[in-house]
Amino acid sequence: MGLTAAKIEPSAKQELVEGLTQALAETSVETMKAQNFHWNVTGMSFGPLHELFQKMYEDHFEGQDLLAERIKQFDMHAEGRYSVYLARSAVKEHDGHADAKEMIAALLADQEQISTTLSALCEIADQHGDWATNDLATARIEAHDKFAWMLRAHLK
Ligand SMILES: [Fe+2]
Repeated sequence: MGLTAAKIEPSAKQELVEGLTQALAETSVETMKAQNFHWNVTGMSFGPLHELFQKMYEDHFEGQDLLAERIKQFDMHAEGRYSVYLARSAVKEHDGHADAKEMIAALLADQEQISTTLSALCEIADQHGDWATNDLATARIEAHDKFAWMLRAHLK
């Protein structure tokens, strides 16, 4: 049987918040990175890439909010510092100096990383009967997997 946020055990909450914070950190670093590339991309594909990268950072910005607000539903603290995000995130910042193909490859690797982090979160949520976190993490995997497909298609 599934549990609502208020009924989940404190130790399970701790584990769920850890996973949510990891996903939040990586999503947040990726939001800025996609916007950085939106600004600095160059070349003949400028137009469509400028737009695709915008779709990504807009999606990720919303995703950050949903992840953080699930943490708040457990009555726990939502981490909001970039310094902490950067320290724990497997997705790394970029200086924005790269050609379009390198930007696409970097974002593709990041999207796959975030989906991996989210699928670990799905498993934790599943173990604790937390369907709402599972549903959120699944929806975020769908979004990141879709962007991964779009990015990958450029490299073929
Ligand atoms: Fe813009």
